[in-house]
Amino acid sequence: MIDPTTHDHATQMRMLLYGQLVSRTLCTAVRLGVPEALAGQARSADELADQLGGHPVALGRLLRALAPFGVVTEGSDGTFALTAFGSTLLPTTPGTAHPTALLLAGEVGRTWTDLEHTVRTGESAFQRQFGCQLFDHLEQQPDRREVFDRSQEAGLRLELDEVFDAVGFERYPWIVDVGGGNGHLMCELLGRTPGSTGTVLDLPGTVPLAEKRIAEEGLTRRCTAVAGDFFAHVTPGADLYILSHILHDWGQDRATDILRTCVAAMPEHGRLMVIDLVTDATTAEGVPHRLPAVMDLYMLSLFGAAGGRERTRAEFAALLCAAGLESEETKVLPSGMAVITARRRTR
Ligand SMILES: C[S@@+](CC[C@H](N)C(=O)[O-])C[C@H]1O[C@@H](n2cnc3c(N)ncnc32)[C@H](O)[C@@H]1O
Repeated sequence: MIDPTTHDHATQMRMLLYGQLVSRTLCTAVRLGVPEALAGQARSADELADQLGGHPVALGRLLRALAPFGVVTEGSDGTFALTAFGSTLLPTTPGTAHPTALLLAGEVGRTWTDLEHTVRTGESAFQRQFGCQLFDHLEQQPDRREVFDRSQEAGLRLELDEVFDAVGFERYPWIVDVGGGNGHLMCELLGRTPGSTGTVLDLPGTVPLAEKRIAEEGLTRRCTAVAGDFFAHVTPGADLYILSHILHDWGQDRATDILRTCVAAMPEHGRLMVIDLVTDATTAEGVPHRLPAVMDLYMLSLFGAAGGRERTRAEFAALLCAAGLESEETKVLPSGMAVITARRRTR
């Protein structure tokens, strides 16, 4: 006889192990276009197979498997409907998980299958599988770059309200978003801060996406996108330099190099703002957040043991110090993200 606690734990552990299959099921549904096909209209597996081209029986089983997870419901007539939770897989839902599913269905998910090798050797699974670093790969693959940027944008959408609640950007007339991707943060920021102008700096592959975005938002007079390498040179003279989800992509030395490039560009009164998860924050109930733990493994798979990682507040402070900066204010947000504002170190 297994005691009830052990029984419960063993059952839960199995569900964690099967999590990979659940993730693949969601990714497959997105790749097939199931969420869009179910938007606003319940359909049977046969109808979906007709429309999307899958195998009707296999598709029915895929959908049925998603029902206990709350993604779809199955009606008594055998049709499937998307739930409000499942609607987050639609590309148009604010904060959509759609591009993230596409990333996980592709290169990123593949690197996770190599985690054992990474843990045994410290090598980057991405480098091993694709022969280059993630951002070099994206420079060569414009369609993947676009998906990556949309995934970043959607993730950031979930964070922005709490960032804007915590920080007043009005005091910074000119802001540079270093590694600002397709300009999603900057466009949102300028929309909420009418007195500021902005510059988005990123690798050449994403500059056309940022230019398009800036034009669509009607911000061409207040914002420019520039191609650059943040290890070499960052647009000088701005009042604020933002590094949003940048430092976690890099190990100690490279992260310090990025900060030093920013320091070289900063005027005396300038400020630098790091927006990143911290691993030492807890929920309101005092429980450690799960996302930083998972993201740390994500970084480990992509960049290897000497590369990107999530950090504690103290580790960020040490990083800033190594680059000649000191934190002026650190705000930890309810989601476990930190916004650290830093200035040149005076001591
Ligand atoms: C994790 S994404 C963060 C994007 C955005 N800041 C955000 O918060 O969503 C990292 C960004 O750094 C950019 N990046 C990587 N290497 C770079 C380099 N050497 N110079 C400039 N940007 C770079 C990538 O292209 C990518 O847009």
